[in-house]
Amino acid sequence: MCSHSPNCRVPAPPIFFLYLLLICVLSFTNVNSQVLQACTAATDCGPGLFCGNCPALGLNQPICTRGQPTLPTSLVNGLPFNKYTWIVTHNSFSIVDAPPLPAVQRITFYNQEDSVTNQLMNGVRGLMLDMYDFQNDIWLCHSFRGQCYNFTAFQPAVNTLKEVETFLTQNPTEIVTIIIEDYVHTPKGLTNLFTSAGLDKYWFPVSKMPKKGDDWPTVKDMVQANHRLVVFTSDPSKEAGEGIAYQWKHMVENEPGDPGVQQGLCPHRKESKALNSRSQSLFLMNYFPTYPVEADSCKEHSAPLAEMVNTCYKAAGNLLPNFIAVNFYMRSDGGGVFDIVDKMNGHSLCGCSTVTACQGGGPFGSCKNISVPSTSPVTNTAGSFTGSVQFSKSASSVLQPNCLLLVVFYFLQSLVAAVMTKNL
Ligand SMILES: *[C@@H]1O[C@H](CO)[C@@H](O)[C@H](O)[C@H]1NC(C)=O
Ligand SMILES: *[C@@H]1O[C@H](CO)[C@@H](O)[C@H](O)[C@H]1NC(C)=O
Repeated sequence: MCSHSPNCRVPAPPIFFLYLLLICVLSFTNVNSQVLQACTAATDCGPGLFCGNCPALGLNQPICTRGQPTLPTSLVNGLPFNKYTWIVTHNSFSIVDAPPLPAVQRITFYNQEDSVTNQLMNGVRGLMLDMYDFQNDIWLCHSFRGQCYNFTAFQPAVNTLKEVETFLTQNPTEIVTIIIEDYVHTPKGLTNLFTSAGLDKYWFPVSKMPKKGDDWPTVKDMVQANHRLVVFTSDPSKEAGEGIAYQWKHMVENEPGDPGVQQGLCPHRKESKALNSRSQSLFLMNYFPTYPVEADSCKEHSAPLAEMVNTCYKAAGNLLPNFIAVNFYMRSDGGGVFDIVDKMNGHSLCGCSTVTACQGGGPFGSCKNISVPSTSPVTNTAGSFTGSVQFSKSASSVLQPNCLLLVVFYFLQSLVAAVMTKNL
């Protein structure tokens, strides 16, 4: 460094500072970077991308990563609902920045980082919601033993369901699935809840759900009938009682939590039939560790997720999951959950390596040539949404530009040097 060399000329502080600032500003205004290019903010990256880091995989600076899947229905629209794969957020409501109840310290784990509205805008099409009786209402709560407490509560479920209603109204060709971990015992509690959120008009009737593993109606038919909200409950009494589909009558599912991320295995959840039973039409793949760790999820959503999809595909007798449920869905080292879901849809919908290679209306197996197969979301903006990811406070620390710190550091250093030179 300068101070150790007797012949060193201390640069004029203001000029040196301005020079560094210029470099910083130039490196900041690298708008429209593509996947894997360096960035300092989401506005540096192209549409559908955001700026993320993955120190868990040894990355030491933020890069543009995908933030949205390609909407498969924008390319292949005529197939049964159960041919498609959708991203599901595990505990969609357990959001890092969610304010606690007044004067209460919340004690729980968090699973997501942006609002449910934003999740939907980013192409998430399945929500896992835990619902409890609480304060004479139904609340979203991350709790235990079927009891919600003021320190595990998030908010009244109707607020989140109203976000879903707004989304479905504003996007008349989209279909959303809600999977409820159901601790509600109030008679007709869920029925009244969905009605007061205005969601009854989009309700997919349980009587129209296929039995014995048959195909669902096509997504086109579901949209035409406006049956665009598919709801499942974990409470078996509510299918006959309230017309809310009992989850494991209609889908198979692997183990949630740690058993679901153990490489090479894909055991079925105990409430579910065997994954290859074919008596249910839908397949939910859980892929999240029991204890969610924000900083590790980018690593989990890279190669290990692709391997687990293969493992579960084989465990289900060569069937791809319809839903992939994850924590911190947008975190990855580049393509993440979005890339994997695109590939799954390509495989199932048109027999191509990824869904953007599907030729609309072409025969199965006829694929478009796509130049950069793994990470090219911006070459096809079909079905692109305008959502964004605003990381919560705790997450944004990994995105701080080192450049600015460097400027401050050099500025202070040159000030000190200038003062010392003057004194000598
Ligand atoms: C939270 O609930 C506990 C009982 O479970 C109660 O003692 C406490 O006063 C509540 N706190 C607030 C701020 O409502
Ligand atoms: C894709 O590219 C290969 C060679 O690069 C070419 O032989 C093939 O005909 C192309 N297929 C289509 C569908 O354009």
